[in-house]
Amino acid sequence: MAIQRTFSIIKPDATARNLTGKINAVFEDAGLRIVGQRRIRMTDEQAKRFYAVHAERPFYGELVDFMTSGPVVVQVLEGENAVAKHREVMGATNPAEAAEGTVRKLYAQSIGENSVHGSDSEENAKIEIAQFFSEADIAG
Ligand code: CMP
Repeated sequence: MAIQRTFSIIKPDATARNLTGKINAVFEDAGLRIVGQRRIRMTDEQAKRFYAVHAERPFYGELVDFMTSGPVVVQVLEGENAVAKHREVMGATNPAEAAEGTVRKLYAQSIGENSVHGSDSEENAKIEIAQFFSEADIAG
């Protein structure tokens, strides 16, 4: 299986509750290596661009407001089959449907305040990583 990179965000509901270390432990225990990481305050422009694919959805405004409401931790994770592995350990988008032991089952508060984001494909991972990281900020 090829080594991949994926893009991850620890969202404002999780940073507010000091869960960065606990969430990173779940990722690392799953074999994902944190090869890039930065804590930032996302701007309105960054959040709108990042979630542009959801612009027509009824929750878009709420989503942008939430993602700019507090600090987030943007990350590049690397490992075998990293995109699928990360999605597996994050759990379902809706925490009510998330499997035991997943980040969203453990920590998410609602479908909106769901603690983490992860890329849904390797192609999107490359696009999302490039929005927040230059190669110089990633050390594998
Ligand atoms: P994420 O993986 O960051 O990608 C899009 C986000 O939209 C998703 O996680 C959820 O947090 C959010 N989202 C999806 N559906 C809803 C919804 N019905 N109401 C509010 N937010 C939603």
